[in-house]
Amino acid sequence: MTAQPDLTIIVPTFNESPNVAPLVRRLERATTGFRCEVLFVDDSSDDTPAEVVRVAAGSTMAVRVLHRDEATGGLSGAVIEGLRAAGSDVCVVMDGDLQHPPEVVRDLVDRFSAGDADVVVASRYVDDGSSEGLAGLSRNLVSRTTTALTKAMFPLRLRSCTDPMTGFFLVDRRRIDLETLRPRGFKILLEVLARQQLRIAEVPFQFAERIAGGSKASVRQGFHFIAQLAALRFGKMSGFAAIGLFGALLNLLILWTLTEAGLFYLWAAVIASEVTIVGNFLLQERFVFREMLDEATGRWSRFAKSFAFNNAEAVIRIPMMGLMVESWHISSVLATAITLVIAFIARYAFHALVVYAP
Ligand code: GDD
Ligand code: MN
Repeated sequence: MTAQPDLTIIVPTFNESPNVAPLVRRLERATTGFRCEVLFVDDSSDDTPAEVVRVAAGSTMAVRVLHRDEATGGLSGAVIEGLRAAGSDVCVVMDGDLQHPPEVVRDLVDRFSAGDADVVVASRYVDDGSSEGLAGLSRNLVSRTTTALTKAMFPLRLRSCTDPMTGFFLVDRRRIDLETLRPRGFKILLEVLARQQLRIAEVPFQFAERIAGGSKASVRQGFHFIAQLAALRFGKMSGFAAIGLFGALLNLLILWTLTEAGLFYLWAAVIASEVTIVGNFLLQERFVFREMLDEATGRWSRFAKSFAFNNAEAVIRIPMMGLMVESWHISSVLATAITLVIAFIARYAFHALVVYAP
């Protein structure tokens, strides 16, 4: 190939031999009018690479296959490698099993041409998009639930994305830092969107049924996904935890100083707690939720919510602890530890989803 392509279509494949020819034929028809390259990134054990070479010989498009001997990072790893090797900056990522209709590639490109997006997502959950090709009610339910959960965990980054779990999207490679992407599991778009704030546009598409071969989705992929969510979110959560720990030390220091000065210990405890709550609020505003401030409600409203939650939590936690000791017959230290962990998670969730919600 001599001229630079306008568009690279990256197709990760794992044993998709029977799907290669129909996919390339439909892509040829769908992309007339622009210079287009199809890049298969393959981890197959069947003859998919040979099949790509065979189909490429008779194709009007540039068709390449990059076969990996070590399938590092699975599907996501393949996509990242495809993004690196692509001949153009504008890339479409799609599955090789025809569940992503090739005709939608043109919709993605047209939408990108408007010039106001870094990523265009082909969504099953917008307008007349659909996920009917997802085999079975249970997979559909899993998809819906995990989508809602994921959106709740990244309220800002995913605000204008209805389908962060789709594997069908267009991305402008210049707008993302490939080095920050961690290849794991099936959800590469989530990795791209969660890492930086991108301008997202969407087009609807109907997820088709798989005709040949079988899906590689599995319980193992489910675990990959949970690990991915935790890793993507961990940065913020650990900052929140560090501030919580600092606050606990501050609390003790104030308590000690005030009682030494002769103040009744209960009053000292109340003052120490309130000072800590205010201090934690200021620190988390500055260090943890900073990028969310512009979109959230005003500072006083945020403070009121945070303050109310933390006080309510302190009031509820002690009787909860007592209840656990009485009814489960566990030690007060264990009960305190459990309530502190639950309180931490609840506090983090409340701040991420309510206090700093856009
Ligand atoms: N290179 C490579 N390596 N490709 C892989 C691997 C791998 O380890 N595992 C799967 N693929 C390829 C498949 O050959 C197919 O082209 C595509 O990735 C999707 O895999 P499927 O096994 O068909 O997955 P699915 O249909 O269950 O999942 C699809 O739908 C999800 C949304 O529900 C994928 O598009 C996901 O990306 C998408 O999130
Ligand atoms: Mn599939």
